[in-house]
Amino acid sequence: LTKVHSVDPLNPDEDIIDRCCKAILNGAIIVFPTETVYGLGAYVYNVEAVRKIFIAKSRPMDNPLIVHISKIDQLYEIAIDVPEIVNIIAENFWPGPLTILLRKNRSVPKEVSGGLDTVAVRMPAHPVALKLIDCSGPIAAPSANISGRPSPTSPYHVLVDMFGRADIILDAGETFFGVESTIIDILSDPPKLLRPGAMPIEKIEEVLNKRIEIPVFALGYKESEKALAPGMKYKHYAPKTPLIIAKSRDYTDCRRYAEKVKKIAMDLIARGRNIAVVASTETADIYIDLNIKIFVLGSRKNLFEIAKNLFGVLRELDRSGVDMAIVEGYPEKGIGITIMNRLIKASGYRVVDVDTD
Ligand code: TXA
Ligand code: MG
Repeated sequence: LTKVHSVDPLNPDEDIIDRCCKAILNGAIIVFPTETVYGLGAYVYNVEAVRKIFIAKSRPMDNPLIVHISKIDQLYEIAIDVPEIVNIIAENFWPGPLTILLRKNRSVPKEVSGGLDTVAVRMPAHPVALKLIDCSGPIAAPSANISGRPSPTSPYHVLVDMFGRADIILDAGETFFGVESTIIDILSDPPKLLRPGAMPIEKIEEVLNKRIEIPVFALGYKESEKALAPGMKYKHYAPKTPLIIAKSRDYTDCRRYAEKVKKIAMDLIARGRNIAVVASTETADIYIDLNIKIFVLGSRKNLFEIAKNLFGVLRELDRSGVDMAIVEGYPEKGIGITIMNRLIKASGYRVVDVDTD
């Protein structure tokens, strides 16, 4: 049976961390908080435990995991030929929501990397994760959701997905960002974005003083032909409720934009659909007279707030009983790229353009 421990996110009980550390070294799989989303972790060198992760999540074996470290030294245990640029990345972004690819050390089981010769690595900025890894050493972990569901950002999501599947759940309240880490391939030149995430791409470009290539699949619009990031070929972040993303080239006049979204909503209502709209604080009232469920993600002035609430609202939609939801779009800049990537994927590429349609 799954044991659940609640800890203070900023100052976790050392006895509990110690017990979790011993358990993970003995082959347990543990749900632990990171600053992005909850992860389901195994000791990176325990092949049996790593296999248990794939079973617990119903995750395809060829979708590789991220290795979480707490100190730079650990990088050299799991990777070889670490390029110079990693020092700049570590200094500026770690601990934090940026994952990079490195050449895999043979010590890391092939199950962790899905058989690839690269390994994804990051240092999470969460005291609970850092203390646990300090004690145990590197932890391989995907997000702690059942495969295909939105990543868990609250203990409630974790319990729904992982109770009875994980050995231990470390509950430390809500995660800080609510979307996963940004993944870049720094082994290619220019570096390539594999998954937009909590760290805005512009910030990375500024620090590296380098352009980062953004393939279309990283924006969410098209599945990758080649398995650049193997996980990208699987359906992701999918709520059961069908979504329609209402995209625009310009959201500056967001109330005028929302009026166009409202027209789409009215059309669907006229066709007898029981719909919901996912809006922002600036636009929510526009839909009130439609008498439908309105979900509010947060303010357009703070896209980090929108991102933080996104996965929770996608899960809520599934419990709301509506046939489908129309979701407002956001400008594809900064964290907005991440929001749109998750929305487009969650919709299965059902995107309407309010400027042309
Ligand atoms: O914020 C996060 O990144 C969270 C927390 C728990 O750290 N983790 C997370 O893991 O989102 P997961 O497994 O849900 O996503 C990991 C992604 C997958 O899409 C996988 O394909 C990609 O990382 N990945 C891992 N190793 C890779 C590699 N060697 N080459 C390319 N992509 C890789
Ligand atoms: Mg995931």
